[in-house]
Amino acid sequence: MSNTVKKKPRKAAAKPKTNISVVPDVAVDVVASVGAQNNAALLKRREAAVARGVVSAAPVFASHAENAELWDVEGNRYVDFAGGIAVLNTGHRHPKVIAAAKAQEDHYTHTSFQVVPYEPYVALAEKLNDLAPGDHAKKSLLVTTGAEAVENAVKIARAATGRPGVIAFTGGYHGRTLLTLGMTGKISPYKKDVGPFPSDIFRAPFPSVRDGITVQDALTGLQNLFLTDAQPERIAAIIIEPVLGEGGYTPVPFEMMQALREICDTHGIMLIADEIQAGFGRTGTWFAVEHSGVVPDLITVAKSMAGGYPIAGVIGRAEVMDAVIPGGLGGTYGGNPVACAAALAAIEAIEEEGLLARSTELGEHFRARFAEIGARVAPYRMWDIRGLGAMLAVEFVTDFDSATPDAALTKAVVAHALKRGLILLACGMHGNALRIMVPLTASDAIIEEGLAIFEAALIDAMAELQG
Ligand SMILES: Cc1ncc(COP(=O)(O)O)c(C=O)c1O
Repeated sequence: MSNTVKKKPRKAAAKPKTNISVVPDVAVDVVASVGAQNNAALLKRREAAVARGVVSAAPVFASHAENAELWDVEGNRYVDFAGGIAVLNTGHRHPKVIAAAKAQEDHYTHTSFQVVPYEPYVALAEKLNDLAPGDHAKKSLLVTTGAEAVENAVKIARAATGRPGVIAFTGGYHGRTLLTLGMTGKISPYKKDVGPFPSDIFRAPFPSVRDGITVQDALTGLQNLFLTDAQPERIAAIIIEPVLGEGGYTPVPFEMMQALREICDTHGIMLIADEIQAGFGRTGTWFAVEHSGVVPDLITVAKSMAGGYPIAGVIGRAEVMDAVIPGGLGGTYGGNPVACAAALAAIEAIEEEGLLARSTELGEHFRARFAEIGARVAPYRMWDIRGLGAMLAVEFVTDFDSATPDAALTKAVVAHALKRGLILLACGMHGNALRIMVPLTASDAIIEEGLAIFEAALIDAMAELQG
């Protein structure tokens, strides 16, 4: 493929073509509204009205989206490799998901499960219990956000063990509420200026090739933590992302996950797999932890579970899940019926469309293409291509010898990609990794289009930084 990708015209005609076909009446309205607003004016309003703490990676405003494509309010089209931060494994507006949500809306949109229960909540809990690894009896709790799921997993682990402590890992990300921020292992931008954080949270080292921390070093660090600060009999849970998400798309080595299982069993500690970013087919299995063969006690889920609707959950051993007394779990909106219907449809789509196998296939394709692009246009700058299945990231460095993280190059690639019509998102402790969260439903043609833009953006970015 040529590495001189032609720039797409940034402005579409007044009524740009869309491929919206699912809900034609909506499509007509959407297309008619394109061009009625412009990004610059909206950015100005945003700046004046929205707290600056909530940032947006792209300085453009969404008009409509379909599968792996998105259009802004000016009619510019983008290939979406960010998937709303790993929420859209089944793509924007999957027809099944939209139809299920609409059908549910025709019945009721909210009763609060705590007031009048409804079947979709129970059906989703049953489905999650079936899908989660382990053949023991399981139960589930539904909430609204990932952070809420993690908070509840900790509450459940504490109630089940009668212990307060939690161990999390360097570079882990578990949310932005105060308890989850305590577990999140990165200061800027998440934790800066907003502490103090809850007590009884301890941090163990995550294995890192970059930092020369082997699995054995990480396990020694954990054992040292037990000797110095974290009395094992007072630890309720060890929480880990089977693939670090915000921390850089680094998989936990399987032997590390297996060792954690043994350590938890030895000390009566609950092992929590935070699958909020890595779950629902992203890595080629329903849950990333399955690759290691380890069965966690509790699993937190959210994001791609519902194809764009806000819902999250905790799945766990039935007796552990039942440790919290009646009334001790829940929330007004937890397990919203429209989101439950969407989740059941998204899960069905993953099953019917073979998206687990597609994830593995896409992962191999991205790996090969990144290696080839790196060798051809950015030798010694793409230091690491890593991940599991289609949960992949590429890490940029100034050179291979020093492997110095190159956040400036990464930022420039993201900016140039957007200008050329590709939405990308960075991650990692040093902000120098680009992660791939493209819908698993994206066609080969769209994937190739995105990769071609990536390559062109990389060339642009290197030229800009050299010039
Ligand atoms: C692994 C992990 N845990 C928890 C969260 C928090 O989820 P939410 O942003 O829905 O609160 C995230 C969000 O990115 C995540 O990736």
